[in-house]
Amino acid sequence: MKKLFGVIGDPIAHSMSPLMHNDAFGRLGIDGYYQPFHVKPDDLEAAVRGMKAIGVQGFNVTIPHKSAIIPLLDQVDPLARAIGAVNTVVREQNGWTGYNTDGMGFVRGLREAYGEPLEDKRVLLIGAGGAARAIYYTLASENVNQIDIANRTLEKASVLVDNCPYPVASKVQTTDEAAKQLDVYDIVIQTTSIGMTPLIEESPLSMANMKPGAFVSDIIYNPLETKILKDAEERGARIQNGLKMFVYQGALAFEKWTGQTPDIDSMEEIVRHQLGGSYVNN
Ligand code: ATR
Repeated sequence: MKKLFGVIGDPIAHSMSPLMHNDAFGRLGIDGYYQPFHVKPDDLEAAVRGMKAIGVQGFNVTIPHKSAIIPLLDQVDPLARAIGAVNTVVREQNGWTGYNTDGMGFVRGLREAYGEPLEDKRVLLIGAGGAARAIYYTLASENVNQIDIANRTLEKASVLVDNCPYPVASKVQTTDEAAKQLDVYDIVIQTTSIGMTPLIEESPLSMANMKPGAFVSDIIYNPLETKILKDAEERGARIQNGLKMFVYQGALAFEKWTGQTPDIDSMEEIVRHQLGGSYVNN
């Protein structure tokens, strides 16, 4: 009998995860199947119980369930608990265990592209929403010392900093303030929805004062090159879009479920191919 996996979300129809995971099962000769499940918020608890009862081995969680699922799980990994969001659930001996591979997926992609240790680099994070929280806490958990945050609403950035359980030095500022002193940052990470379709002509921050040779990463992959990435590239930055984060969050989930490492290049190729059609960031 096939081992069953899946993703729950609302909406879920355009998720690219099923193609990515089912292809990886095939390549590794694993008798598994990954199914998208449309689960409305009111049905979340029943869905989680039902998946346990029918023997689902693990599943991904996407909008709007990433925080709501936490009290429904049997264990939650400390990093996921700190982030306050679970995107990967694994059937373990003691029941469902929740993890967050979004932040880890981002950091793995960043390390690979950046090629140097991150610990002593000065990092600017733009945004203070759910994605920013996953990335900020994961970077802090991996001993990156200085991560400043620029956000439209300062209060939201302060809450994020104040609740971080890992030691890190952080200045909270508006995007205008950050733009003025942009030349102190080695790495800039864009996590807001500004630049995503339909806001493709917009950038959350002017790159005019960028440090020469800085690394600029945007978690958006729709479009593949946002305005901030174009502006940064014109000024000589090395740039990275959100494809790698998406692929690595999936690969890390896959490893937790199967103990095997999928082929990253094939996963990325599948997602790129899909991006020709209609898709969303999940
Ligand atoms: P996600 O979970 O995808 O990160 P979110 O929690 O809604 O999404 O967070 C969105 C982020 O984008 C926030 O940092 C938000 O800024 P505020 O904290 O001030 O709301 C930022 N954002 C979204 N739209 C924006 C806009 N038009 N201008 C500036 N910032 C924006």
